[in-house]
Amino acid sequence: MAQNKVLYRCNNCGHETSRWQGKCLECDRWDALSVVDETKTSQNLPLDPFRLRRMDTTHPDAGTIQPIPTGIAEADRVFSGGLLPGSVTLLGGEPGIGKSTFLLQIAASMAKRISVMYVSAEEGLNQISLRAARLFIHDSGMNLLHAFGTAEILAYAKDLKPDLLIVDSVQTVCDETVNSASGSVTQVRAVTENLVKFAKKMNTAVIMAGHVTKDGTLAGPKVLEHLVDTVVSFEGDRHHSLRVLTVLKHRFGTSGETAIFSMSAEGLREIPDPSGLMLADRCQEVPGSVVVPVLEGQRSLLVELQALVVKSNLANPKRQVQGVAGSRLAIILAILEQRAGCSFSASDVFVSIVGGIKVSEPALDLPLALCLASAFHDTKVDGALLSCGELGLGGEVRQVAHLDKRLAEGIRLGFKKFIVPASDADNLDEKSEGNKIEIIGVRTLREALKALTIE
Ligand code: TYD
Ligand code: MG
Repeated sequence: MAQNKVLYRCNNCGHETSRWQGKCLECDRWDALSVVDETKTSQNLPLDPFRLRRMDTTHPDAGTIQPIPTGIAEADRVFSGGLLPGSVTLLGGEPGIGKSTFLLQIAASMAKRISVMYVSAEEGLNQISLRAARLFIHDSGMNLLHAFGTAEILAYAKDLKPDLLIVDSVQTVCDETVNSASGSVTQVRAVTENLVKFAKKMNTAVIMAGHVTKDGTLAGPKVLEHLVDTVVSFEGDRHHSLRVLTVLKHRFGTSGETAIFSMSAEGLREIPDPSGLMLADRCQEVPGSVVVPVLEGQRSLLVELQALVVKSNLANPKRQVQGVAGSRLAIILAILEQRAGCSFSASDVFVSIVGGIKVSEPALDLPLALCLASAFHDTKVDGALLSCGELGLGGEVRQVAHLDKRLAEGIRLGFKKFIVPASDADNLDEKSEGNKIEIIGVRTLREALKALTIE
């Protein structure tokens, strides 16, 4: 008889090996290997003939599951209507960004209509109540639990059978059957697997908070993304009040949607008109400022891009960015130098997107180049100008997605002049006639600079 091969798995990183070792070769943790239970193989399992079913989309229950609205309009828009029963959502963000605040506000809003259980392993009940008082949440009807173990949490949850279970946070909760510290990859994975099983079995919507750090040192959301149905990130600059909620993955709706909130003394507030807020303090008289219509999910948002170019005394001049990728800045500077004759080799360059928003889409290229050229030549750009377009390395301006949406947002906020890729401009003629706006189609960066007389 063939002997079953013994398999060992590291409790810390999950690495598998056929030989026992005192130290895991993958993560260097001592005494972390344990035997994997191989008794539950497919040969030993009895089959239930009723479990395997033919798909029937005409069944009365098929496709009738409706999302439960959170009651917070911006969050509902991001979640494509609300939280689906039985779905698991991971809310990732840096510590202190406002995840617990957001979750408590959602819990309070939903507890008016459905049964909600809010589990915190990070904060005691007193602390949660203090926060609730600060957010003017009284008599919400939600159930609070301060616990650390999944067995304990799920025992209470099985008893209460809530429609929504919130767990804050996945790194501080632990699975007692796993011999590893809270927050380790094995632990967060085990905790999540338990919560996913519970959600599917009980048809409960589950939201878990997970901490991420800028350098990704904390175990968490990255290794869990494939286990959960929805991944949302909560981001923002801690020195600014703006917070951006973005759906990174959504099995039951569109991903890429964003909602913008402002963190106030009384918790998170929805911002129905983020473009207006973003441009509120704009100073139009200074060179190096350009407004860009960026696309956040399905809608457009106007943000102000600023650049400062100053003479440098350093051997390696400074390049500092906020909200824009440093690698993108390097490319745009190279294009400007080679295709438009602006040399930044003796200058420190600072670029920032006002409001603490991060933009990674290529439509920012052309405005970034215009902004840098404006700062370089100390020539201000028309305050009523909006521009977007991707730049190729040859200095050519390329099309961007959903230009109509971007323009509509600009027109709504009173912008009159639009510099856009020439290949897109022809389709926009009717728009310009009706709205008394000027649309300038440009083929190259040089054409754009000429149109603005920044040379
Ligand atoms: P928190 O939700 O605890 O963050 P996380 O759970 O992501 O770690 O938010 C903490 C920060 O938010 C803290 O610096 C205080 C601030 N805050 C407000 O500004 N207003 C409020 O009403 C609340 C509750 C918190
Ligand atoms: Mg928290």
